[in-house]
Amino acid sequence: MWKICSCCSLPDFVSALFREEFDFIQCASLADVFGRGGDADVLLISVETRLDAEAIDRLPETVKVVATYSVGTDHIDLEALARRDIAFLSTPDVLSASVAETAVFLALGAARRATESIELIRSGNWSGWTPRQLIGTELASKAAGIIGMGRIGREIAARLRGLGMTVAYHNRRPLEASLEAGAQFHAELDTLLQQADLVVLCCPSNESTRYMINGDRIGQMKSGALLVNVARGNIIEDNALIEALQAGRIGGAGLDVFDREPDFDRRYLQLPNAFILPHIGSSTIEARTRMGAILRDGLVELSRGR
Ligand code: DGY
Repeated sequence: MWKICSCCSLPDFVSALFREEFDFIQCASLADVFGRGGDADVLLISVETRLDAEAIDRLPETVKVVATYSVGTDHIDLEALARRDIAFLSTPDVLSASVAETAVFLALGAARRATESIELIRSGNWSGWTPRQLIGTELASKAAGIIGMGRIGREIAARLRGLGMTVAYHNRRPLEASLEAGAQFHAELDTLLQQADLVVLCCPSNESTRYMINGDRIGQMKSGALLVNVARGNIIEDNALIEALQAGRIGGAGLDVFDREPDFDRRYLQLPNAFILPHIGSSTIEARTRMGAILRDGLVELSRGR
């Protein structure tokens, strides 16, 4: 029976899935795995464990698979894994619906001034309905611009269409028509930014997307537009976004992810037009269960030599 050393603290209902098939050992950290002296067949991690080339070199010879309990892989040096001929598993597809729902939640929260509304009612200062109170914007009939039209982007597009938005997207290359489902392709990021009322980031974090949403790019956005990020925090330059939000140049931001999280830029806390969440995109019982099941099934296949 293969031994899994897990550096991530999974919900019990997820670790139970692994325990059905494997010897499952909870480790406190990578140092713990290095210190075990080479009995692990599988290293299980998630986004909070950085697995760089140096750490990969230190993995015991016995490790045949690295599995990450995440769809994002930017915390892992995949080339270094390949050099050591270690197989790799992640959790694509199974969390797309949950992340897409989070994106819609953030878009609506930013459009409808959720931060100010929650603050007002929870503070006890609400003095009743008035025609002037907390006027937001509708998403219906507006233009959404999705950056990164992969599985998650397409799920977001479907939901935004359901809200009555038109959808355009920017990707490395256009999708085939059946996947586009009527969305308009923009080869240039800037033309998408210039036309969108809502910009949604759901692209991978890599060399070409890191700090892609900088001051120039935010300057391209329509006045009053909304920006949502369910991808990775380091796609946005915080200084530029915070300045734009402070100046009211863009209407609002809905953010589930942050650069250097959990040490995110605390200035976001002071911004009434920032609707912020602590990276809960895939935090549903359904997604978390499917993430465990897809990794467990993949490990079963690999352990049987398939
Ligand atoms: C992922 O899977 O990459 C998320 O960001 C964490 O669930």
